[in-house]
Amino acid sequence: MQRILVLVLLLFCASAIAQTSVSGEEALGTKTYDQFEKPETCYSCHADIYMQWTQAMMSQAYTHHWDEIEYFDLAVAHAEKDPTMKGPVDGCNGCHTPMAFMAGDVTPPRPEEGSRANESVSCDVCHTITAIHEDGGYPYNFSFVSEPGRTKYGAKPGLKSPHHDTKKLDIFEQAELCGSCHNEKNPFGVMVKSTQIEWKEGPYSKQGVPCQQCHMPKAWGKNAKMAKEDMVAQHLFHGAHDPGKVGGAIEIRMHPLEREVEYDGTVELKVQLFNGKAGHKIPTGSVEDRIMWLHVTAIDANGKEYHLPVDKKGFEGEEYTIAADELAYVDMGIPKGIPDFKGVQRDGVPVGDRIFRMPFFDKNGVMTIMQWNTAKLGVDYRIGPRETKIETYTWELPDDIPEGKITFKAELNYQRLVKPVADFLGVPEDETEIIRVNTATTWVEVYE
Ligand code: HEC
Ligand code: HEC
Ligand code: HEC
Ligand code: HEC
Ligand code: HEC
Repeated sequence: MQRILVLVLLLFCASAIAQTSVSGEEALGTKTYDQFEKPETCYSCHADIYMQWTQAMMSQAYTHHWDEIEYFDLAVAHAEKDPTMKGPVDGCNGCHTPMAFMAGDVTPPRPEEGSRANESVSCDVCHTITAIHEDGGYPYNFSFVSEPGRTKYGAKPGLKSPHHDTKKLDIFEQAELCGSCHNEKNPFGVMVKSTQIEWKEGPYSKQGVPCQQCHMPKAWGKNAKMAKEDMVAQHLFHGAHDPGKVGGAIEIRMHPLEREVEYDGTVELKVQLFNGKAGHKIPTGSVEDRIMWLHVTAIDANGKEYHLPVDKKGFEGEEYTIAADELAYVDMGIPKGIPDFKGVQRDGVPVGDRIFRMPFFDKNGVMTIMQWNTAKLGVDYRIGPRETKIETYTWELPDDIPEGKITFKAELNYQRLVKPVADFLGVPEDETEIIRVNTATTWVEVYE
């Protein structure tokens, strides 16, 4: 009898452990909203951190306009037409509004309805994570274990709080915590987000510089009203929505191969682009949406302006890295219910400019921004951490070039969302703001 009791107890414990250590898709519907505290509760003591977080995108991961448009107008609409997409589309919430996912509230109410799904990636979502599951050497698809309750987990040992218990867990200082949402595998088995993997393969992981050092830098101050002063992790989480973070992330320089050129000669320019600031590739994350391009112009002695197209290098898939007058994104026609949709312009930037990107393709081999509908990745022509790429420009001087100085200007621009897609979907202008990453200039002298 005692033996049976012990066995039953053991089985009970085992299933209880299995229940609390679920992560990813298995966590669907395993919790309730009430188990999580609201960010406003944390505000009463952690005002500073709370206000930082409200300005970061993770506090708006469910409510931000472009997220709402892509989720409801493309993803949910796609799953209504193709039921095999229902699971993956519910999975959007696993990262964008983890509480809703764990509460089984999928599809959650629209942001305007003011439900708790709006809390997005909240304080209590992160600070009740107790473990990160990995598969194949890295975490992905919200593979965090959530154990909401009285204990708030963090990076510091032995802290005392009147509102909650605290416990130090090493994961709070590790990139894997972030990687559980910043790496994503889609229903085709394609890694459509790999920021933590890019970091891991790059120099910063080897030097022990996790995401937190650049996105949650530490500064002297108080982390709670009643706390003693100390070095405190700032909850900035600044990224592509902060022009100051993107600005200067790539340094560029440019020089001609000859300073003096004959009037019927050819100018050869080289531009070096160095990723000196990011711990991952640029662009990273929502690579399907982002576009970064190098625009080079010349101004002759009479003030006439010329646009210089980049020299081709001849690698496979290069056509996707040079701006062209092409249509793409045809699969938006499925959720939009437009039969025979021809697509919209692929790039929306000056033809001939070099684009640093990795194109995503649907199963018909057409470029897509619907990451969940991506069957294949194209050439990876992004700039890796501490990598330098060189672009060349060969320009045969026009017949009527005047004698004197020609000034060249290189501008590296960044846009969060390809403009023609934003216009088609009615995404507000601020999402397609052009951010100047960097500029460089040089000159040559033309002689008769
Ligand atoms: C009544 C005040 C109060 C409230 C409310 C409160 N905290 Fe705290 N919290 C503290 C104090 C005090 C500390 C310890 C600060 C110190 O000594 O550095 C702390 C520490 C922490 C830490 C650091 C833990 C560690 O070990 O590194 C985390 C994380 C945390 N709180 C999260 C939260 C979250 C999330 C909420 C809302 C759900 C919350 N707190 C609500 C007062 C509060
Ligand atoms: C995306 C996950 C995430 C979110 C969201 C988040 N935090 Fe944190 N927080 C962390 C991590 C990671 C650390 C530890 C960073 C480190 O030490 O490098 C931390 C540290 C803290 C600390 C201790 C800071 C210190 O260094 O003394 C407090 C307090 C805290 N968080 C409270 C909050 C509150 C309150 C909110 C919501 C307003 C919040 N956090 C939102 C991940 C998060
Ligand atoms: C629970 C899932 C989750 C975790 C854990 C998480 N993130 Fe995020 N993060 C998101 C989502 C979702 C977004 C997209 C927000 C949006 O919709 O714009 C995001 C956006 C960001 C951005 C981009 C901001 C921008 O301007 O584009 C940064 C930077 C960021 N996270 C850093 C971190 C860091 C650093 C960590 C680890 C300390 C972390 N995140 C952990 C889900 C998560
Ligand atoms: C050495 C500093 C550094 C480290 C380490 C670092 N980042 Fe970044 N991160 C940046 C800079 C600079 C940018 C702005 C340039 C850009 O958009 O890539 C950025 C941008 C981002 C963005 C927005 C990218 C976009 O295009 O939407 C996200 C998301 C992000 N980082 C997440 C992470 C995560 C997750 C980690 C850890 C795995 C990490 N970062 C490690 C410096 C860093
Ligand atoms: C594994 C976690 C994860 C899943 C699943 C996920 N996302 Fe995201 N999503 C993120 C992260 C992290 C970012 C931020 C990347 C960056 O800043 O570049 C993001 C960014 C976005 C953005 C761009 C936000 C902006 O303002 O630029 C949109 C839109 C978006 N996701 C929609 C979706 C939709 C729709 C789905 C489901 C089909 C989905 N996401 C599934 C983690 C996830």
